[in-house]
Amino acid sequence: MTSEKNLVYETIIGRRSYRGKYTPDKVPRNDLKLILEAGLAAPSGCNKQTTHLIAVDDEELLRKLLSEIDPPVAQTAPAMICVLTKRINAYRDRCFATQDYAAAIENMLLMIHAMGYESCWYEGHITDTDRIGDRIARLLGVPEGYELVCILPVGRAEAAPACPKKLPFEERAWFNGFGV
Ligand SMILES: Cc1cc2nc3c(=O)[nH]c(=O)nc-3n(C[C@H](O)[C@H](O)[C@H](O)COP(=O)(O)O)c2cc1C
Repeated sequence: MTSEKNLVYETIIGRRSYRGKYTPDKVPRNDLKLILEAGLAAPSGCNKQTTHLIAVDDEELLRKLLSEIDPPVAQTAPAMICVLTKRINAYRDRCFATQDYAAAIENMLLMIHAMGYESCWYEGHITDTDRIGDRIARLLGVPEGYELVCILPVGRAEAAPACPKKLPFEERAWFNGFGV
């Protein structure tokens, strides 16, 4: 593998969901901007670009948003990216907004990890029946037509992320036929 390929591979394989404490180090604006750019560079169905992003690095606002999250997660994160989607059709009745924001989130998670920060894709937690995402969206002044579907904390990890069990390659991927 060339060193560039190796770097991408190592970043992808090394990324983990981090749910531990963050150090108090601030995330420079420029770093947050690079992460947002990585998200916006993701492919989108018919190039409709349905994903929008808000990075929060204002301490007071961040505390206010994090206090909406119950049970609490990412409480020590020094920054957070909020992922918004616009559920419009790409063509006919086909809406690819979910795929669009999933691609954007993965790009950002990889960028975050590559820059030495950690994060976790918090979607289930904030889009459940208690609609935490809607409350965060209201505090951020998100207009009608956009749904806040995910939050990504960003910061330096205090501890090593846990490594979840993954099924072996042979049980999930094959060449030239199912199960071959
Ligand atoms: C659509 C989606 C929603 C998720 N929502 C949450 C969540 O609400 N809370 C959480 O702790 N992790 C959440 N995760 C992270 C997964 O739990 C995690 O990716 C999985 O356990 C595999 O671990 P890994 O990311 O370290 O490979 C979510 C991941 C995806 C793709």
